[in-house]
Amino acid sequence: MAVVPYKDQNENKKSQVATMFNNIAGKYDFLNHFLSAGIDIVWRKKAVSLLAPEKPKQVLDIATGTADFAIETLRLNPDKITGVDISEGMLAVGREKLVKKGLTNKIELQYGDSENLPFEDNTFDAITVAFGVRNFENLEKGLSEMHRVLKPGGMAVVLEFSKPRSFPMKQLYQFYFKNILPMVGKLVSKDNAAYTYLPESVQAFPDGQDFINIYQKVGFKGTKWHSLTFGISSIYTGKK
Ligand SMILES: C[S@@+](CC[C@H](N)C(=O)[O-])C[C@H]1O[C@@H](n2cnc3c(N)ncnc32)[C@H](O)[C@@H]1O
Repeated sequence: MAVVPYKDQNENKKSQVATMFNNIAGKYDFLNHFLSAGIDIVWRKKAVSLLAPEKPKQVLDIATGTADFAIETLRLNPDKITGVDISEGMLAVGREKLVKKGLTNKIELQYGDSENLPFEDNTFDAITVAFGVRNFENLEKGLSEMHRVLKPGGMAVVLEFSKPRSFPMKQLYQFYFKNILPMVGKLVSKDNAAYTYLPESVQAFPDGQDFINIYQKVGFKGTKWHSLTFGISSIYTGKK
């Protein structure tokens, strides 16, 4: 059974996830940085630095949300970054941010589903996804679509929450993620489910070697797993 945000509703995971992000879009950036004490910013920087040696020119940022990862990737000076997402609410916040920062010539945001990407085969030099793959309805389909639109030799970088496994971080993390985070998230976002779904979806997600196995199954080569901050997050890189 897929973990979904609104358990009392019948819609599939994809439409529930889109609704949830539409609901919290206005508070998403604040809550992200507040609830992670800003560590999410450091994680995105680390992920982008792993991509730096590739010097990508055409980049696709999947599940781009409010475009934070796309904006961070500008550091690599690509010609263009395309960001896709299934939440129009998140894209609207992202577009506003790009206008304010004067970045609309470099980053273009559009509606797009990771499981059915609206691009030709072999289009991008690099693909990035931050905190997106856990939300896919069909993880394997999403990852094989990424592989399809990546150019041969191109690199995919996936940043996602994972589960810390050693004492005392495992216990501290579980207490924070299951008690504090849902309470603060609900209070600020006014969405009852979003920040309960977050720890539940992390718990159910195949992290570490399990993720690498799926990554390889869909065709990625030279895969690497980098564990960040006691295993709270991980970066997975792979090439086509
Ligand atoms: C936690 S946010 C991450 C946003 C951004 N990448 C960041 O680092 O802040 C997850 C995003 O994934 C998007 N998403 C979920 N499933 C998706 C899918 N199948 N295709 C495209 N985007 C998807 C959601 O709409 C949401 O904006």
